[in-house]
Amino acid sequence: MRAGIGKIIALLFLVGMILTGVAVAEDRNVDISCIHCHSKQVSEFEKSVHFNYISCTDCHGGDPNISGSVVSINVMSKDFKGSPSQENLTSFCSKCHPQVTAKYEKSIHWKKVQEGRTESASCINCHGVHNILSSKNQDSPTHLENIPLMCSDCHENETKMQAWYYGIQTDRFDTYKKLYHYKAYLSGGRVLATCSDCHESHDVKPEDDPESSINPANLPATCGKTGCHPGAQNAYVYGGKVHEGKSVYFFSIDVKTLVTYFYILMILFELTFTFGLIFLGMSSNFRILRRKNHD
Ligand code: HEC
Ligand code: HEC
Ligand code: HEC
Ligand code: HEC
Ligand code: HEC
Ligand code: HEC
Repeated sequence: MRAGIGKIIALLFLVGMILTGVAVAEDRNVDISCIHCHSKQVSEFEKSVHFNYISCTDCHGGDPNISGSVVSINVMSKDFKGSPSQENLTSFCSKCHPQVTAKYEKSIHWKKVQEGRTESASCINCHGVHNILSSKNQDSPTHLENIPLMCSDCHENETKMQAWYYGIQTDRFDTYKKLYHYKAYLSGGRVLATCSDCHESHDVKPEDDPESSINPANLPATCGKTGCHPGAQNAYVYGGKVHEGKSVYFFSIDVKTLVTYFYILMILFELTFTFGLIFLGMSSNFRILRRKNHD
């Protein structure tokens, strides 16, 4: 009997906790009048990992004391910040994610942003903006299995890459797909190593940087991570085999592209030549016929 009452009390307590929990979560997020005018951002935000923890004003500032029941543009006052520029974007995230931001600010991606290359990656290119999900969520672009596609959205995209860098290697995903690390996944297994396992997610650096995870000197540590190839002695050899069968460049133009253009030109030339010959042949036959008729 006592145990029964205990159970009921525990249950009531639990229900109470859930109800107040929900109420707190709602309070924090509903009392914001942004919803009246920016329903698209609000509905995206509701599904994001941030929703239960922070609100619009944590990133954008503004005056949250102006009640959600009053539609007023004045909420965008006080310390309101609009859309940040790419160089200012990290200041939106750094106050709550200082370690990740510090890592990112050492990367090639950040270096290029600072050089004014808007094609480079900042937090929102990889994570999204109002719809940010935890990487544990399968729908997140930063989920293990989605990382190759996320990185290739830029690194495999010739038009995007040509805008800023003539001759960047745009075969990273193609060459990676051939790798055992991904083949296992394609045939129903799991991804063994994804782009960011070797290149890091935030501290991405080019090969010739001595601090880069893919610098030959650091490959034994990168390949030798726990769960990968501990004690990897031949890491240097593995290194060259990762993006195997990669493109060859001729004065920073992909030879594959050169060959393609060469063939297109050859085919056009051949077609013109063949049809030219046929035309000439037909017209001379026609002339011979006419002459015969005259005779
Ligand atoms: C009464 C309607 C209204 C309310 C309430 C409102 N906004 Fe706006 N907001 C606008 C309009 C209008 C613009 C300018 C047009 C545009 O860029 O969409 C704008 C623009 C913005 C921009 C983009 C500015 C830029 O730099 O491009 C942001 C960010 C923004 N609002 C955030 C918020 C946030 C956060 C809240 C709540 C604290 C809020 N707004 C509340 C109407 C409103
Ligand atoms: C985690 C930080 C963060 C939170 C929280 C956040 N925003 Fe934003 N918001 C941004 C960033 C970053 C941009 C710039 C996006 C870009 O440049 O593409 C932005 C852009 C905007 C814009 C300009 C239009 C657009 O979509 O690019 C509006 C409007 C806006 N936010 C409204 C809101 C509203 C309303 C909320 C709350 C539901 C909110 N934001 C919550 C970071 C945030
Ligand atoms: C006001 C504090 C705050 C700001 C500002 C903020 N975040 Fe967050 N963020 C959080 C909290 C709290 C969580 C959820 C708890 C956790 O998982 O660490 C979170 C979670 C995340 C996650 C998911 C982490 C995971 O588990 O995989 C990502 C990604 C993320 N934030 C990115 C950003 C980006 C990008 C910005 C800037 C545009 C930003 N955050 C701005 C507080 C913030
Ligand atoms: C929004 C586009 C974008 C996304 C997304 C992106 N990158 Fe990059 N990445 C760039 C640009 C631009 C550079 C600068 C290239 C340069 O000038 O060397 C770069 C440089 C690099 C470099 C150095 C290349 C070199 O030759 O110097 C590596 C390695 C790299 N990225 C890996 C990654 C990985 C891994 C991911 C995914 C986790 C990723 N990138 C996502 C745009 C992007
Ligand atoms: C080149 C793509 C890329 C960029 C740029 C990037 N991230 Fe990430 N981020 C990832 C990937 C991939 C993961 C998941 C794998 C992991 O945890 O390393 C991740 C994980 C995270 C996490 C959860 C893991 C953790 O360590 O807490 C947070 C928080 C986060 N990122 C915030 C940010 C912030 C803030 C920025 C900008 C300062 C940023 N990211 C820039 C790709 C990126
Ligand atoms: C198993 C580890 C591993 C994986 C997985 C991997 N890479 Fe690499 N990546 C390397 C190594 C080692 C190099 C340097 C040697 C080379 O170019 O082959 C490299 C080179 C690069 C470079 C040129 C860097 C420079 O400075 O020249 C880019 C860009 C790159 N990878 C992007 C990617 C992308 C995008 C993915 C995912 C689709 C990916 N990598 C997957 C290990 C890896």
